[in-house]
Amino acid sequence: MPTILLTGASRGLGIEFVKHYAAAGWRVHACARDADAPALKAVKGDVQRHKLDVTDFAATAKLASALKGEAIDVLLANAGISGSEAGELGKVDADVWLETFRVNALAPVKLAEVFVDHVAASQRKAMLAISSRLGSIGLNHEGGRYAYRASKAALNMAWKSLATDTKGRGLTCVVLHPGWVSTDMGGAAAPVTPPNSVAGMTKVIEGLKPSDTGGFINYDGARFEW
Ligand SMILES: NC(=O)c1ccc[n+]([C@@H]2O[C@H](COP(=O)([O-])OP(=O)(O)OC[C@H]3O[C@@H](n4cnc5c(N)ncnc54)[C@H](OP(=O)(O)O)[C@@H]3O)[C@@H](O)[C@H]2O)c1
Repeated sequence: MPTILLTGASRGLGIEFVKHYAAAGWRVHACARDADAPALKAVKGDVQRHKLDVTDFAATAKLASALKGEAIDVLLANAGISGSEAGELGKVDADVWLETFRVNALAPVKLAEVFVDHVAASQRKAMLAISSRLGSIGLNHEGGRYAYRASKAALNMAWKSLATDTKGRGLTCVVLHPGWVSTDMGGAAAPVTPPNSVAGMTKVIEGLKPSDTGGFINYDGARFEW
């Protein structure tokens, strides 16, 4: 069966991905700051739990070394923060901005950097990051959310370079928008539930082709503009 490695597996979309792929019989490398989170521990199946704060780049590299030789079909950079405290003009907080960039933009790239060989050695060869529609410059008609939007736009740009740089190795590098989802981040008013979002995104992942590399795809399969 295929293998997936994902970050931010403790709750929200992350735990939903773990449940989905474990139930489908995949081997799941579930990385979380709290690898003993009860919800994560409770998932049945081939779930390997790893303690990982994605901003600890040495720990990310150490995990890649520990898994050397293991093919990873789908690498999924999911962990993210909202950066909302630095959201509006007049409240720009440099420390919050930098932390938001560290988690949302830099950590996925550091993850891809150390796991690219594992993914290239697999059958499916997919490197994915959960971005956001809020990271689209073309779709920004509402303004606000400065740190979050900018961090996801930076992630999108980095993933586009990753797609270009890995084309010769047959990798498919795509950023996904999960919808506005009722997780801790999305809030209770969000119209899409985590199971529905993950059902959509896993269908998209299942249908990915090498020609999709460099894409920005919604959970319902629609293509977004940058
Ligand atoms: N929900 C939405 O409407 C929505 C919309 C667009 C995009 N997204 C994106 O979807 C992804 C998942 O979000 P979500 O809705 O599931 O949010 P969530 O419920 O707030 O969960 C965030 C996850 O990221 C983890 N995380 C945060 N900082 C981390 C760090 N430094 N190291 C490791 N893990 C860290 C959290 O772990 P802890 O439990 O340890 O805090 C948690 O597992 C994010 O990238 C988010 O930007 C969400």
